[in-house]
Amino acid sequence: MEIRSVDVHDDEQLRAWYDVYRACALDERDYPTAWTWPETVAAFRRPDKGNRRDAVVGEQSGGTVAASILVYPLLDNTHAVYAETAVLAQWRRRGIGTAMVDDIVQRSRTAGRRTVIAEVVYPFDAAEDHPFRAFARRLGFVEALSDVHRILDLPVDDPSDRPVAGPGHAPSPGLPDRHLAGPLSRRVPRGLR
Ligand SMILES: CC(C)(COP(=O)(O)OP(=O)(O)OC[C@H]1O[C@@H](n2cnc3c(N)ncnc32)[C@H](O)[C@@H]1OP(=O)(O)O)[C@@H](O)C(=O)NCCC(=O)NCCS
Repeated sequence: MEIRSVDVHDDEQLRAWYDVYRACALDERDYPTAWTWPETVAAFRRPDKGNRRDAVVGEQSGGTVAASILVYPLLDNTHAVYAETAVLAQWRRRGIGTAMVDDIVQRSRTAGRRTVIAEVVYPFDAAEDHPFRAFARRLGFVEALSDVHRILDLPVDDPSDRPVAGPGHAPSPGLPDRHLAGPLSRRVPRGLR
């Protein structure tokens, strides 16, 4: 397999990256949050003083089968890289994901970063041995932070009746239970303007 950087200003190359990224992001998710194509173009091409972004593809048998993104923060957390990789479902369990993560680690080292922070998405009630968690653990990653992706159907009749933490999903210990008390202000807080 060949692993190579994408020229993000080349539509054809970025589209090949995007098609794999999107297919994997939609796979097995009821509420996927994949970037649209215009968002992807903007994320990679728009000047951004805060982050550098690299897109990387894995190619096999003449096609793109894996896609990684690496985000290098430039102003804060400059010891770290935020990274994700994904392999098309029909190409999994052949060592491709491992090769993509090795590449991420190598690129991170070359950039002088010492920590790779990656995200793994799995169902809320998935077992400890969910394949994606097993994969990350096998490669030496340790779990550090869990986020719950919550869904709220709109419109909301009475916002005050809707706790942010749903049934069975208690807020983290130490955090007060929070409720939406009313419509969110659309004004930018003073100091952030
Ligand atoms: C996670 C993912 C990248 C793994 O890709 P892959 O090419 O199948 O990974 P590999 O073949 O290199 O697997 C390496 C090891 O991970 C573990 N693993 C991977 N898939 C597994 C599965 N379905 N069940 C159990 N263990 C699994 C195994 O230990 C495997 O080694 P083995 O095949 O020798 O037993 C792929 O499933 C994927 O794209 N998932 C969706 C996106 C994602 O979660 N990305 C990870 C976050 S960065």
